[in-house]
Amino acid sequence: MCGIVGYIGHQDTKEVLLKGLEKLEYRGYDSAGISVLNDNGVHVFKVKGRIATLRDAVDEDVHATMGIGHTRWATHGAPSKENAHPHQSTSGRFTIVHNGVIENYVDLRNEYLQGVQLKSETDTEVIVQLLEKLYDQKGNVSEAFRKTISLLHGSYAVAVIDNEDPDTIYVAKNKSPLLVGLGDNGFNVVSSDSMAMLQVTDRFVELMDKEVVIVKREGVEIQKLDGTRVEREHFVAELDASDIEKGTYPHFMLKEIDEQPAVIRKIVQEYRHEKEGIKLDKDIRQAMLDTDRVYIIAAGTSYHAGLVGKQLIENLAKVPVEVHVASEFSYNMPLLSEKPLFIFISQSGETADSRSVLVQIKEMGYPALTITNVPGSTLSREADYTLHLHAGPEIAVASTKAYTAQIAVLAILAVDTAKAKGIDLDFDPLQELAIVSSAIEALCDQKDEIEAVVSKYLETTRNCFFIGRGIDYFVGQEGALKLKEISYIQAEGFAGGELKHGTIALIEEGTPVIALATQKNVNYSIRANVQEVVARGANACIISMEGLNEENDAFVVPAVHELLTPLVSVVPLQLIAYYAALHRDCDVDKPRNLAKSVTVE
Ligand code: F6R
Repeated sequence: MCGIVGYIGHQDTKEVLLKGLEKLEYRGYDSAGISVLNDNGVHVFKVKGRIATLRDAVDEDVHATMGIGHTRWATHGAPSKENAHPHQSTSGRFTIVHNGVIENYVDLRNEYLQGVQLKSETDTEVIVQLLEKLYDQKGNVSEAFRKTISLLHGSYAVAVIDNEDPDTIYVAKNKSPLLVGLGDNGFNVVSSDSMAMLQVTDRFVELMDKEVVIVKREGVEIQKLDGTRVEREHFVAELDASDIEKGTYPHFMLKEIDEQPAVIRKIVQEYRHEKEGIKLDKDIRQAMLDTDRVYIIAAGTSYHAGLVGKQLIENLAKVPVEVHVASEFSYNMPLLSEKPLFIFISQSGETADSRSVLVQIKEMGYPALTITNVPGSTLSREADYTLHLHAGPEIAVASTKAYTAQIAVLAILAVDTAKAKGIDLDFDPLQELAIVSSAIEALCDQKDEIEAVVSKYLETTRNCFFIGRGIDYFVGQEGALKLKEISYIQAEGFAGGELKHGTIALIEEGTPVIALATQKNVNYSIRANVQEVVARGANACIISMEGLNEENDAFVVPAVHELLTPLVSVVPLQLIAYYAALHRDCDVDKPRNLAKSVTVE
């Protein structure tokens, strides 16, 4: 994980780096640092903590026009000032920031760095020490940098500055995301994503794995590891700077929950075809027709969206679907069908667990479709096809609008496949999604009522259960994940009928149990499960759907098509998590121990 930035130009670099790192905090926020280079040499500022703490630690009086910065999610070595980046070589000549994991760092240390006193416990320091060692042998920095990079196994996005050369930042990438941004008037930048550098440019060049870049004020040169030059066109980032600001909202999470109706409308607009109803790449349609079984691979919230996607694809398109947690799949691969199609669901498109499955199944020759919010992301580039979520940047660590967008796009894919197979459906997904969008809007206007649910059921509790049957079970799992990750209340989602097989032993006087009742065929049985826990002292909170509601239900969501209920029933659960975290003074947008984009396995 981690985020990196670099700037070389004529402006005071501290502010550009700090602003960039603030935008990258979603990638990790346990420690941070910057290094800037001026006539007096290199100045390194680093802290354990967030960018706000780093800001206080940076010396206002140090002015420089080039530098690099880093915000960290610890992998090797605990979060501490020593382990924070940037790291320097022994002589202090080279300074590095790194995002990724160097798998062979112990071997490199043993082979090349015997006798070198390392200052940190990180794999990153090994890179910079190795660079110094190889420079001592070769006497040429570019050559030593390329040689260093060629010895690394694992993932990396690195930026290096050389004390003796104020005109160059050395950059390299493998598996971890990295862009070079092109500035007008003699400056260029480096960044883990485009959002961080939109403050100065919207023109970016994508980097491929195992490329190095020599970044100077007047231009950038991309090279392969053998030194040959690579020419590549830039692209213009289609982001609006306001998309990545909170505006008047207290938290990104609340803003993103409120954006859901607009996201659903945008999806409807993007996937609407005047004549055919749905606009979808013909090759994706064909891939869905050709397969005998779909394998959905995802993690966390995207996995939960995949569980709902299975219901949609199997019910509507009659194609069998398996849903797998990405981190398990590689090591525990099921028997595959004859013509599998892999669908990767990933908001960021960078999740390492999913990517390792993608690499594996591509080697086996199978087709892959990525459903993502970031079309230029690694998972998108490396799959055969991509479906875009059109959700706009999701900044809060807890995913909300990406989940609803993923389900909406999966519904469109399912209906398109059904139609292509000639299945007669009484279901116009775009029309149904328009109804969903209005329903979510109505829910977003009922925040006070949802906050009251939190006050009544969750104020002092240590734990909470979510139960549901069928599709509600999957939404309950997502509700539990949201609650635990931002409020730290221990929460689990269970199939309503499963509690009595063990977990019901945990129900005590006052234990909150949130039950979802949006499905007609199980309305009676889920309510029976609620009675079972109430009889054992639980404080039951039923969230039902209009038409299925009963007198004492805590909250009723508007009626939508039965297969699309997750899109509305998840909204009160997102808001419950939000207010529970708020009432406990938790950091809603940046919960402890987490990062938004999990680029390590
Ligand atoms: C939870 C959350 C995570 C992500 C998971 C996968 O709120 O955001 O569980 O869903 O890390 O990330 P993506 O979708 O980027 O692959």
